[in-house]
Amino acid sequence: MPSKPLLAKTSQILYGGDYNPEQWPESVWEEDVRLMRRAGVNLVSLGIFSWAKLQSDENTFTFEWLDRGMDLLVKNGIWVDLATATASPPPWLSVRYPDVLAIDADGRTYYHGSRQHYSPSSPSYRKFAALLVEKIASRYAKHPALVAWHINNEYACHVHNCHGPASTEAFRAWLQKRYGSLEALNNAWGTAFWSQHYYDWSEVFTPRKTPTFVNPCQQLDFQRFFSDALLELCKMERDILRRITPDIPVTTNFMSFLKPLNYWDWAKEIDFTSWDSYPDPLPGQRGDLVASMGHDLTRSLKPGRPFVLMEQCTSHVNWRPVNATKPPGSMRLYSLQAVARGGDGVLFFQWRQSIRGAEKFHGAMVQHAPAEKSRVFQEVCALGAELKKLGQVTGSLIRSRVAVIVDWHAWWALEMPSKPTEFNYQSSVAQFHRYFYENNIAVDFVTPDTNLSSYALVVAPTLYLLQEKDAQNLDAYVRKGGAILVTCFSGIVDRDDNVLPGGYPGYLTKTLGLWVEEWFPLGLDEKRIVQFGKGKKLSARKWSEVVHLEGAKALATFQEGYLKGRAALTRNSLGKGEALYLATELNTKDLSYFLDALIRDIDIKAPLSVPTKVEVTLRENGKKRFLFLLNHNKKPVRIDLKKNSGLELLTHKKIKRQIQLPALGVAVIELD
Ligand code: GLA
Repeated sequence: MPSKPLLAKTSQILYGGDYNPEQWPESVWEEDVRLMRRAGVNLVSLGIFSWAKLQSDENTFTFEWLDRGMDLLVKNGIWVDLATATASPPPWLSVRYPDVLAIDADGRTYYHGSRQHYSPSSPSYRKFAALLVEKIASRYAKHPALVAWHINNEYACHVHNCHGPASTEAFRAWLQKRYGSLEALNNAWGTAFWSQHYYDWSEVFTPRKTPTFVNPCQQLDFQRFFSDALLELCKMERDILRRITPDIPVTTNFMSFLKPLNYWDWAKEIDFTSWDSYPDPLPGQRGDLVASMGHDLTRSLKPGRPFVLMEQCTSHVNWRPVNATKPPGSMRLYSLQAVARGGDGVLFFQWRQSIRGAEKFHGAMVQHAPAEKSRVFQEVCALGAELKKLGQVTGSLIRSRVAVIVDWHAWWALEMPSKPTEFNYQSSVAQFHRYFYENNIAVDFVTPDTNLSSYALVVAPTLYLLQEKDAQNLDAYVRKGGAILVTCFSGIVDRDDNVLPGGYPGYLTKTLGLWVEEWFPLGLDEKRIVQFGKGKKLSARKWSEVVHLEGAKALATFQEGYLKGRAALTRNSLGKGEALYLATELNTKDLSYFLDALIRDIDIKAPLSVPTKVEVTLRENGKKRFLFLLNHNKKPVRIDLKKNSGLELLTHKKIKRQIQLPALGVAVIELD
């Protein structure tokens, strides 16, 4: 089913950036809108860091400058994604109400003078943020420029926890709701261990500085609590906005795989997802790959709805040790990649490069150099003109037959200390995503409780924490004909991080047709040979274990030492489907060898076979199909389109049989 346009007023690709007019004299604003029109900008995110300029004490608000900004923008045909301005509380607020300030695990305060220094549970922050949102929403509810609400900004980008008195109280309340009684908490947290039994709620704290490992379930619950506490704030703002402007969609800008926030919960609460993408342009960093994973996550978080790339940079950022500049042409390529992977908007941080403050060396659409003479601005204008040609792509969706499971609870629990080895959840997930990306196979991210019936293959990388009901969902998916690949150290603990005894991987043993007796983690430089039948030898690393087959068959075995001849990779036929298990980690090349065979078996294919480093995606909208071809090579490529033909939308040329793409070139073909 085709989706609705993101914004009621347009079926254009959204194009623009963060606009901070408060940093400039109003004489510059006229020039801004002139250049915006020239660049094809149709949307700006306004007022993100304006709180201090909008409110000078408890009762005094100054909106006139923002009124003039909004009026000027709409007069020039530019819409506004209006921020609620709550991301950086003004100094007067934290001086008068010190409970606003967040406090870290060592008891140190985060002061104003930067940004995002607020405690999510601070009653004063909540009170004044709500008041500000109410004022802004009421004032601009009917303003013709307003098309979307931008709640706060990059929640948890800098501050990942707070241990102040208000947070401690809020954590206790959260636990009371979760467990109902102290007895249940003591049981879940396993407080019989190391004399941690609690007799009164006032004894329970956030996980502050301790001599050694903090109780794991306490840490896990604190991560859950912190994500929820910020989400409560976001919902508080959203509820005010929806009450005053029920027809204006709300978003908040995500940050791809941001560990502190369980974005699955968050995405349900907003109208469309958006994210900020800052891949490192330094040669060798594979920015395209990193960005593709963020696009795929942001799209997957809200199925059936395109997303917006809310921020990226035109040229370079200011916060890495070396801030490489995107080479000419690559900003366009990265922007069109966002559209290719399901985005309906391409925006930047920021419109005009600052000359003061901590971000004055961060690139922008209008750089320090005179706009009309700047390479960057020329590229910005050219991109704006091209995006205008892609209006009909808006609302179209990507259909994936492959899914990779991502679960924040499993991520948090896996990376807590005192494990058999150090796992990195995101890199386990990324290894699989990379395979599908590089093979041009559309891939979604899903949770373990998703209805998986539309997928032909589901991969569950290191799903350390797994609830019984979710394991049952995976089992049912396999029995009905699905294929699942589970990797090592999955299904080890339940939702409270308590081990399921009686053989790993807990609730999955029957699905996988095996059980695991013990582990042999490998040293950083250790390798193991794993052999497929009598054939190909693959290189394994990080992990090995003793697998006992109970129905599953070994596809590959370890070749050395105590594990010689034991299963390293297994396949279990179950009902109409198959469950595979990888009892180690393969290097990326060898993983491809195995996955190539697997997807051949399941008959999963790319839309088109193309030279390496050419990205292919397909967006669909009813009968309309848009084929995106992106050449990430520094040289031209010729692509055989097989029987495909259609209209290339950027050049408006009919294309048949083949197409030539220049270095970093892109084609968007509406297929016949
Ligand atoms: C984030 C923030 C922006 C800006 C950029 C700089 O994305 O949301 O305000 O600081 O980083 O890269």
